[in-house]
Amino acid sequence: MAFLELHGLTKTFGGVPAVDELNISVETGEFLSLLGPSGCGKTTTLNMIAGFLDPSAGNIRLNNAPLHTVKPRDRGLGVVFQSYALFPHMTVSENISFGLEILKVPQGEARRRVEDVIDLVRLAGMAHRFPAQLSGGQQQRVALARALVIEPPLLLLDEPLSNLDAKLRDDMQSELRRIQRSVGTTTIMVTHDQSEAMALSDRIAVMNQGRLEQAGSPQEVYDKPASAFVSGFLGKTNLLHGRLQRGGDGIGVIDIAAHRFRASDDQTCSPGPVKLSLRPEHIRIGKDAEDHACRVSGQIHSRVFLGDRWIYDVNCVLGTLLVYGQSGAAPFEDAETVSMSWDAAKLRIVEAGHA
Ligand SMILES: Nc1ncnc2c1ncn2[C@@H]1O[C@H](COP(=O)(O)OP(=O)(O)OP(=O)(O)O)[C@@H](O)[C@H]1O
Ligand SMILES: [Mg+2]
Repeated sequence: MAFLELHGLTKTFGGVPAVDELNISVETGEFLSLLGPSGCGKTTTLNMIAGFLDPSAGNIRLNNAPLHTVKPRDRGLGVVFQSYALFPHMTVSENISFGLEILKVPQGEARRRVEDVIDLVRLAGMAHRFPAQLSGGQQQRVALARALVIEPPLLLLDEPLSNLDAKLRDDMQSELRRIQRSVGTTTIMVTHDQSEAMALSDRIAVMNQGRLEQAGSPQEVYDKPASAFVSGFLGKTNLLHGRLQRGGDGIGVIDIAAHRFRASDDQTCSPGPVKLSLRPEHIRIGKDAEDHACRVSGQIHSRVFLGDRWIYDVNCVLGTLLVYGQSGAAPFEDAETVSMSWDAAKLRIVEAGHA
């Protein structure tokens, strides 16, 4: 039994499901991200765990006990909302100690815990400032400290870094990871930012239209996406339509536009039409044809320089492929003929049975 379990968790608004039979388990100490596009049901899920919304169906168990029957304030969870909602008339330490007063923690212990958590989020020396005298990142850390000081069994974060600028967000990502690791609090973070989810999480649950598409480590969901949606949502990809065939020896081949490619051994779906994902960074591009089973030639259609790499659109028999080229290498010219190749394992079947 996992530490937190969501079973068939469902929430409908006016008959329309916002969260649709969600099954997710979270282990003790784990950092799980709920990742998905706007409106896919992330906040609704978090609100049901926090107790601010009642599920329409399904249940939630924490530590093997039903959670959805417990009143929100009795759940003792740490929650950080997108708008940090700090009390403007209270100082940093008053904001942080507020939750301990509600819990009637004795004053001496409360003072010690507030001091500890202020150190943890690196706000020493700012305890007597008011929120308006802090930067966005510092306010964010107060919100986090306020959630952590009650030593919650579960920390719920809804887009905690979304209104920080890019540089500060990067810094706060590392801070958040350091803090979560050092305290070990089981954490669920909602985000629509795939790189944030990748950088912070032990596991990512990718949601689409209220449903769970895939849950796995950042590497699993990126390298082995379970659906076309997941492969497209996590980074850039080329989606191709093809057909899986199996030879008499059982070895799979994939036909795309009259070209035949070897299928990697771990693709076990049955023969028929398939959707495939081929990531731009997995395509090697060169002037000379490599002697490789997975190879096509094409013409450069357009190119963009991004500093750390070139991005090419290459027209070929499979369609227009997005391909990354190294920044150090001499760039290919428009209309130049190039050869592209990839390892069979990088051509992933993401959906079967679609024509
Ligand atoms: N109180 C409500 N009444 C009616 N519909 C709602 C309510 N709350 C949310 N919804 C709908 O439920 C769906 C999921 O909303 P939710 O807020 O969970 O999305 P989200 O994944 O958090 O999106 P975002 O990334 O934009 O915050 C949306 O279609 C939304 O319009
Ligand atoms: Mg939301």
